[in-house]
Amino acid sequence: MKDIIRLENIGVTYSNKKVLEHLDLTIREGEFVAVCGQTGCGKSTMLRLILGAEKPTTGRVLIDGRELPRPDRHRGYVPQKYSLFPDKTVLDNITFGPETEEFGLIGRLKPGFRRRRKEFQAQAYEYLKHMGLQASDAHKYPDELSGGMQQRVAIAQALIMKPQILLMDEAFSALDPGTRSEMQKLVRTLWKETGTTFLFVTHNIPEAIFLGSRVVILGKDSPESSSKVQVDMELPEEAHSREEVERLTRVIGNATAGAKLELTYAE
Ligand SMILES: Nc1ncnc2c1ncn2[C@@H]1O[C@H](COP(=O)(O)OP(=O)(O)OP(=O)(O)O)[C@@H](O)[C@H]1O
Ligand SMILES: [Mg+2]
Repeated sequence: MKDIIRLENIGVTYSNKKVLEHLDLTIREGEFVAVCGQTGCGKSTMLRLILGAEKPTTGRVLIDGRELPRPDRHRGYVPQKYSLFPDKTVLDNITFGPETEEFGLIGRLKPGFRRRRKEFQAQAYEYLKHMGLQASDAHKYPDELSGGMQQRVAIAQALIMKPQILLMDEAFSALDPGTRSEMQKLVRTLWKETGTTFLFVTHNIPEAIFLGSRVVILGKDSPESSSKVQVDMELPEEAHSREEVERLTRVIGNATAGAKLELTYAE
């Protein structure tokens, strides 16, 4: 598989505070990279760089070999919560992306808009169904939905653009454990079906192990230094035994806490 994301010697400084330094990371198409690290270590910053919402102070971010100046439809983004337009229905939230891309914000009077809108709505219903939502949810507003349902809509909103890369930043951390585990299964299925490259930030290590084909941990060499990749580890494909999950959780947990460890994965 080709390299779809390359971070080359990235440094990010915010008003004299170095957050990231010497960060190199290459991600191949179709990987599911779970990103862990202590709070404030720069995980969301890294995601914003990949999204194109922010530029690094030094170094380059290459998407499919090119530096891209701003976000576009090829990179989807799902944050922890509040990503839906509160004043739009579920259906309008999902169709907003494709409508805006094709017609712009003021092109809705153009001929063909109504026909295309019907087509986008038909697609939106398909995504809703796929996310486990009902057609009757389509006309609800976000505040009428539970947190889990809102995140399903946010994922549908991202997926309808058929992004090559989907960035999720602690997207499940506001959900109750049952909903969270359902959402993990859903995302894993979507990853397998679509072949989309995922970057998924989480503080929950079992979640990283369940979802990821690879785990990357950002952290500092010492309290004074800035963050870079501390651990980069491929994970086995399928169903881990309980012992294995516990072992991996310990290894990753220790590394996240800043310990320097030699990591090996025993087959
Ligand atoms: N726009 C900004 N201006 C100034 N400082 C910022 C800005 N964005 C982030 N920071 C700082 O950069 C550091 C990294 O922030 P970031 O949000 O990337 O961390 P994180 O790993 O996502 O943390 P968390 O796990 O709490 O979400 C933090 O110290 C934060 O305060
Ligand atoms: Mg963050």
